[in-house]
Amino acid sequence: MSNLRKAASNAIQRFLDYFPDPSKYRPLARFAVENLKISQSIKRNSEALSQNSDNELAYKNDDFLKASIPTSHSDYTKTGFLPTNPQFRTEIGENSLFPHNTHSYIHKKHDLIAEWIKEPVIASTIDLKKPIDSKYDAIKSFEFSIKEASNLVKNDINKVDPFKLVASELGGLTDNISRILETGNPKLSKVVRHYFQATGKQIRPLVVLLMSQVVNGITHNSSSANSEKIDYSVIDKSVPKDIEFDKESSIRDSVIREALSHSLNKNLYNPTTNSNGSIVLPTQRRLAEITELIHTASLVHDDIIDGSDTRRGIPTSHQVFGNKMSVLAGDFLLARASVSLARLRNPEVVELLATVIMDLVEGEFKQLKNINTENGDVTYSNLNSPNEESFNYYLQKTYLKTSSLFAKSIRASAILGNAPDHLVEMAFVFGRNLGTAFQLVDDLLDFTSSKKQTGKPVGADLNLGIATAPVLYAWQEFPELGELIKRKFSNENDAETAYKLVINSQGLQKTRLLVEAYAEKAMASLSLFPPSQSRQALLNLTHSLIFRTK
Ligand code: FPP
Ligand code: MG
Repeated sequence: MSNLRKAASNAIQRFLDYFPDPSKYRPLARFAVENLKISQSIKRNSEALSQNSDNELAYKNDDFLKASIPTSHSDYTKTGFLPTNPQFRTEIGENSLFPHNTHSYIHKKHDLIAEWIKEPVIASTIDLKKPIDSKYDAIKSFEFSIKEASNLVKNDINKVDPFKLVASELGGLTDNISRILETGNPKLSKVVRHYFQATGKQIRPLVVLLMSQVVNGITHNSSSANSEKIDYSVIDKSVPKDIEFDKESSIRDSVIREALSHSLNKNLYNPTTNSNGSIVLPTQRRLAEITELIHTASLVHDDIIDGSDTRRGIPTSHQVFGNKMSVLAGDFLLARASVSLARLRNPEVVELLATVIMDLVEGEFKQLKNINTENGDVTYSNLNSPNEESFNYYLQKTYLKTSSLFAKSIRASAILGNAPDHLVEMAFVFGRNLGTAFQLVDDLLDFTSSKKQTGKPVGADLNLGIATAPVLYAWQEFPELGELIKRKFSNENDAETAYKLVINSQGLQKTRLLVEAYAEKAMASLSLFPPSQSRQALLNLTHSLIFRTK
């Protein structure tokens, strides 16, 4: 560890000691310091691993991974994310932040972090002004140190490229989706593949694949246990294209039966370990593809609802093929996603992803209104400022529309990887907080980014009648926004007036603080998983998603 790192972690240690229970207050700080300490070791060990010529399933025999990813549930719960490798432990253990480095201490620390993560963020109380009190001087310096530490961590984790770690799975994503969408009807084939000609951000499959790598191997023999239960060859078999197949039985039965009996002439997915020893199971790779299918289906429908002209730099589906065909294409994408989902042969995962579809619809439905006028959130007498319910309505909509797909698909990847229950839960919480931070950034960019950067005109949400977090915060300062929000900026100049009020308010800065509140919780939940390059990549990705400009 360099002197700079040592100095930074010592400084943070001193500030952390100031608090009776620092882990509860600043889990991210602890995580930052842990990362400072382990990053060098991870780098060294992964270099050693990449020189290992026997690449196939090398992770099973590698000392480092045995050390850093506990091999059994009990091992993990005993040690938390502290590895058992003596060399590794000297580096992060003996000089660690936890002088009483006993199992129960770590256990307690994890419980406290988990408890803190689960505490809800109260959006309506976000305040730019910190209380002026000498008691908070230490926090100020503390926060400065955290920032420094985060920068160091950031520089370090920037060396882990999230896309590179799952390059083989992401590289095959479009081809696999194209195969899933094969039909005997050339026109339908064309319409359903339209959005896949251009590459989107692929964030959802990316996080699913990375979380798969994070959890695989935590539970002893998870991959072999799964392979006994699942015939992976089913996953890649094609759905019948010819209607003749369906003549003698119900369509549903024949699709499944055909899938089971049809021999596949294209290559099946053979999971291999990547250069840092991580593996993605075939079920998890297919899950990643399913998330992209569901997401794309929702975009096809969303573009019709929003009347958007372009998506991913190409004309929208309804612009090219019209509304009727596009609605049906969206339905078809969902239908094929459902068949693929059933083939994962895991009812819990099927249920999770089925409820995501439901959530997407409900979220979009909620978005048709800005404020809850049915259960009394806003009446004409209290349009002066938003209340907690106004923020809750917006955050619930955000969860349904965006976070649910992140949360439930990441949870599903942990289930497929046979992760212990508390990590399955943490995977969900990570996804939920990441998804919310991601959507909040989207809502911010609507005010701050140009069409050139995002492909969307500035203030597009306002023009669609939608009031997002910056508007709700601006409403705290400008009561006149209430009426405009309620009538969905439908009068002439409403959108323009609202835009100006938002820009002249603290709305953007407050939304930024809200983004950070969710991101901090997302990052803290990662700290409860064993350290690995993939976990670093998820941390890095969280960081880059909240600082993105498009
Ligand atoms: C993009 O939002 C849209 C969504 C995140 C979800 C849309 C959901 C539906 C239309 C419900 C139907 C669902 C399915 C599965 C068919 P946005 O308009 O804020 O983002 P954009 O600027 O990228 O269009
Ligand atoms: Mg839209």
